[in-house]
Amino acid sequence: MSITSFIANNIAKHVKDLVPYASARRLFAASAQTGSEDDHSVPIWLNANEAPTSTQYELDTSLYNRYPDCQPDAVINAYAQYAGVNKDQVLVSRGADEGIELLIRAFCDPVTDSVLICPPTYGMYAISARTCNVGVKSVPLINNDLGDFQLDVANMTAASANVKLVFICAPNNPTGTLPSRSDIEAIIQHYAQTALVVIDEAYIEFTDEPHLSLLAQYPNVVVLRTLSKAFALAGLRCGFTLAQPDIIHELLKVIAPYPLSAPVADIAAQALSAEGLKRMHEQVATILHEQVALVDDLANIGDIELVGAQTGNFILFRTIHKDALMQFLVHHKVFIRDQSKQQQLQNCLRISTGNAAENARLLELITQFYQIQEATAL
Ligand SMILES: Cc1ncc(COP(=O)(O)O)c(C=O)c1O
Repeated sequence: MSITSFIANNIAKHVKDLVPYASARRLFAASAQTGSEDDHSVPIWLNANEAPTSTQYELDTSLYNRYPDCQPDAVINAYAQYAGVNKDQVLVSRGADEGIELLIRAFCDPVTDSVLICPPTYGMYAISARTCNVGVKSVPLINNDLGDFQLDVANMTAASANVKLVFICAPNNPTGTLPSRSDIEAIIQHYAQTALVVIDEAYIEFTDEPHLSLLAQYPNVVVLRTLSKAFALAGLRCGFTLAQPDIIHELLKVIAPYPLSAPVADIAAQALSAEGLKRMHEQVATILHEQVALVDDLANIGDIELVGAQTGNFILFRTIHKDALMQFLVHHKVFIRDQSKQQQLQNCLRISTGNAAENARLLELITQFYQIQEATAL
């Protein structure tokens, strides 16, 4: 029997039609390496909402012969202090992505239960649900005169049957908008007895509207956080789930015994020290400063129309030239993200705000692109 027929006969049914995740970096790995011999340009990565700067950390290797703690005290204590919650309300995991998966595995029965998502939004909620054979119900955000990518509360409450987790992304990736607090509360109250409402705050440090106070008010609220964005540690894979201690206890039943390697724990604790927090706040201020300038400039180029808002570290815009513009940027090794396949985002591209030099290069190229468009249209 060939391996192809072996797999066709034996693979789990719900896995058969899934496709491996194409990370933002892998999508352009080949283009980043190509170029003529005299092309020494460094690729500019503005496609995964990563931070533009990286920091040096110290590693203490003295205990690397031992297995690490599942939930290292130094990391849990530091994050609890940073977030202003109790230690028993914090779970640390391999990125917020693992938090999403743990919630699905602990709270959804495969086949019968569903998660509720509000597209356009972060893709991993649906991907993770599908890998666990859990259903995905979609209630799109409302984007019209009534709201700028706001929650459709009426349809979200109407969709309750078998929903065990409701994912609300705030700030929402990729629209950069914030759902209204009263809508979030209405959803939390509606689902009080039947579902956890998971507020994904991966970008919270770029705005000043955290929802942590809801955690104290409502037992069915969960907040997701990460070190990947404002803390500039996407490569570390470290995220946090904040919830009532009883919910954290359930998640601990399904987490791997050693989710965090010892070096990850060492670095996370340093990133959350007083010095690390100071650096993070400075970097966030710099990115937001850059972002305001970038938004102003972009809005005045060609047919670019800004879409949504900029409460994260990224900018979404629409252009009818999106394919040609992407191609032009890729040719010059500047990588941004195509979001046009998402509901309501036809012709939309997303830029992660980089450092001053990266943003300047991006603007220079986009301006050049539209000059060429205009010249060829004559
Ligand atoms: C909204 C949102 N949540 C979660 C994540 C994943 O975070 P992590 O890198 O901690 O897994 C991302 C990453 O892009 C994101 O945009």
